[in-house]
Amino acid sequence: MPLFLPQFNLQKFNTLAVPALAQYFVSVKSDDELREALAFARTENLPLLLLGGGSNIVLRDDFPGLVVHIKSQGREVVAENDDYVWLKVAAGENWHQLVEYSLDNALYGLENLSLIPGSVGAAPIQNIGAYGVEIKELVAELSALNIRSGLSVTFTNESCRFAYRDSIFKQALKDQYVITSVTFRLHKQPNLNLTYPALGAAFADIVEAEITPQQVSAAVIRIRQSKLPDPAIIPNVGSFFKNPVIAHTQFNNLKARHPDIVAYPVSENQIKLAAGWLIDKAGWRGKEVGGAVVHAQQALVLTNPLKVSGAAVLELAELIKQSVLEQFSVILEMEPRTYP
Ligand code: EPU
Repeated sequence: MPLFLPQFNLQKFNTLAVPALAQYFVSVKSDDELREALAFARTENLPLLLLGGGSNIVLRDDFPGLVVHIKSQGREVVAENDDYVWLKVAAGENWHQLVEYSLDNALYGLENLSLIPGSVGAAPIQNIGAYGVEIKELVAELSALNIRSGLSVTFTNESCRFAYRDSIFKQALKDQYVITSVTFRLHKQPNLNLTYPALGAAFADIVEAEITPQQVSAAVIRIRQSKLPDPAIIPNVGSFFKNPVIAHTQFNNLKARHPDIVAYPVSENQIKLAAGWLIDKAGWRGKEVGGAVVHAQQALVLTNPLKVSGAAVLELAELIKQSVLEQFSVILEMEPRTYP
């Protein structure tokens, strides 16, 4: 039986370092322990918060329910052919340690996703992506436990309905499943993606055949460290907002007023704006309100150096949203999830 700890301080379990209390906290290392935790929540009628690395949540207040920390470990090759290896990884594994493990074992594809904080099981929920690659390109399938029935279900890549920072687990199946393992299809031969401009620039003078995935990983780590604060030093949850996708017609109006606006085409009709640029242009970069700070190197990141409450960070976020709406008529959507 896993140990249920009452009145547990979550400060070390969320990378924003918000000092909120969980009514109950439990760490689970296996599917059986997870089922026991879910049964406890059901019997006691407690709301659930499923926690991986805690790098994508904002605790607005104490959580009146059960926080389940997924700690399952393990990696296993489940299939292989001439081109690919299928690697099944437990949800509780650390994301960056998986990236390092894959590179050490000559398995490729995850290198652009180096140094992203968080756990393997949380990664598919928002289809983590960086430097030109999204996890949806590498997920073969995943296993998840139905919270109500306790039954395990396999989701194919297609049934996860991955999209930019999105999946079925944030939409139709929100709060209905716990991801317990993810099976990645990794390349045996390097399959580099250097489309992201700053990454391409890092290798401008080198012939692509001579670049290794390990070097790409090292370059991604350098670029991340130059812009993004290390949550272990300056508490943060990475991008606080999603990059908003708008219609070309609206974009043309904005572009006429702001010729330097940064955007990436998504489809024939839609374009994705750099939210960091909007927030920066609205004058927020480096600003502080109530202890929460807009990161000086990347305005899309809010930091919490004084470890103030989640509510204080959300107040700053709200001011930013208002100001971007007034100046650009664009609605910013938060990226991390808010609890309770
Ligand atoms: N920009 C500014 N001012 C700023 C910040 C950005 O002008 O203060 C401009 C930059 O100059 C650049 C553009 O905005 O031209 C985009 O900035 P950046 O390349 O840093 O990427 P991003 O679009 O802000 C996204 C992801 C990051 C990911 C990077 C790299 C989202 C919400 N964020 O950020 O993901 O690391 O691309 O691929 O899509 C995260 O999700 O937590 C995260 C860090």
